[in-house]
Amino acid sequence: MSKILVVDDEYSIRETLAMFLREKGHEFCGAASGREGITLFDSFHPEVVILDIRLPDQNGLEVLSQMQSRDNVAKVIMITAFQDMDTTIQAMKRGAYDYIHKPLDADEIEKAVNGALHILELDREASLTREKWKPLNREVIIGKSKEMRDIFKMIGLLCQNRATVLIEGETGTGKELIARMIHQNRECAEEPFIPLDCSAVVDTLLESELFGHEKGAFTGADHTKRGKIELAAGGTLFLDEVGELPLSLQGKLLGFLQRREYMRVGGQQILQSRCHIIAATNRDLAALVQEGKFREDLYFRLNVVTIHVPLLRERISDIPYLARHFLRKINMELGTDVSKLHTGVLKCLSLHPWKGNVRELENVLVEAVVRARGKVILSEEIEKILKKNHPLSMTSLSNYSLPVMEREQIQKTLSHVSWNRTKAARLLGISLPTLRSKIRKYSITASEKSIA
Ligand SMILES: Nc1ncnc2c1ncn2[C@@H]1O[C@H](COP(=O)(O)OP(=O)(O)OP(=O)(O)O)[C@@H](O)[C@H]1O
Ligand SMILES: [Mg+2]
Repeated sequence: MSKILVVDDEYSIRETLAMFLREKGHEFCGAASGREGITLFDSFHPEVVILDIRLPDQNGLEVLSQMQSRDNVAKVIMITAFQDMDTTIQAMKRGAYDYIHKPLDADEIEKAVNGALHILELDREASLTREKWKPLNREVIIGKSKEMRDIFKMIGLLCQNRATVLIEGETGTGKELIARMIHQNRECAEEPFIPLDCSAVVDTLLESELFGHEKGAFTGADHTKRGKIELAAGGTLFLDEVGELPLSLQGKLLGFLQRREYMRVGGQQILQSRCHIIAATNRDLAALVQEGKFREDLYFRLNVVTIHVPLLRERISDIPYLARHFLRKINMELGTDVSKLHTGVLKCLSLHPWKGNVRELENVLVEAVVRARGKVILSEEIEKILKKNHPLSMTSLSNYSLPVMEREQIQKTLSHVSWNRTKAARLLGISLPTLRSKIRKYSITASEKSIA
């Protein structure tokens, strides 16, 4: 039996709810105005409040705020005859548990009340084992699986030398994080770590991004600009998506790696650099070499030491640790306190295909924390998010939303042009960086078959 307070100036609504809630075994208390509602809130100590927005003496949103400022952690369900965006946003922002429209539907009320009570119970349990989020002031790579432990060992070995490293792995597996970790543990840690995404820049600009340019080197070059190699100084140049490097530039990069000398675009002066090189790719470079799209000599230069980062689904034993780590990080960043995973959540997480790997896991947890109405993430909530994130498993047409169609269009176009992103972007009429961000957002991978 739980205590429920209904604040509504309409007598018939209070009566109906009184009957309905008592029948469900709850203790009922009714108030006809905002002031009366607050008084009863303090004396009756309800667990759930059903609160009308339009009250004779006050706005329900005001009453909600007052209730939220009390110690009582009751869940408040707002009801209203008006369906406008602003009030809904305001209500959720002020901490309402749910928002229901009139005319009231018995099922809907029952579901909301039961949901609120369930969350309250879980919150109570979570508070017993409450832990404070301590700030994490350095980056860490989480993983206890054999695969990740081998990678940690490799990072340890690499820290003692200047070897060029190639990191291979699909999108979101943690390539950049590993590159940063190698850099941070080398003697050059105080020097800069400079990433260059070889796929996100238009070909013609890439050369100047890498090597810099002199004033007047080309139209628009109105001042001398230092390239990423120069900016990296004695630190690390991180060549992300190196497989996307156009052939013309591959030769120039090779020249630099062999002699450690280069010139700015339009420059005369020979510059030198001792920066460390770490390259990453989510494509199979050896296969690109076979297809004649990547220079073999450059491949051997980069591939001195290779770290292969496994897919998340190949190391699901890491998922519980990653989930805890991300919850801590997300709560710190969002200022929330969603500290627990309900039973069943880890099982759901371990069954998901994780096409977007660790990044997808992090994104799913961010959404779950934002959607949580208490301190606990429910497995139903996770299931909903996972289903949405993985549109290929959807069968019903009603679920066929705009993002699903967009994803499919991009997927089809990419396979049509054998994953030549420049071509695909042109065909789709979007810029290369936009295409790239969409590929990440929808976790589209080359191995995936088109669903049509
Ligand atoms: N083992 C891990 N422990 C903690 N965080 C991780 C781990 N792996 C990845 N991440 C996090 O997941 C996100 C994606 O990782 P990262 O950017 O390194 O992936 P990536 O392989 O470079 O992906 P892409 O190929 O799409 O660029 C980052 O926020 C990163 O911090
Ligand atoms: Mg990356």
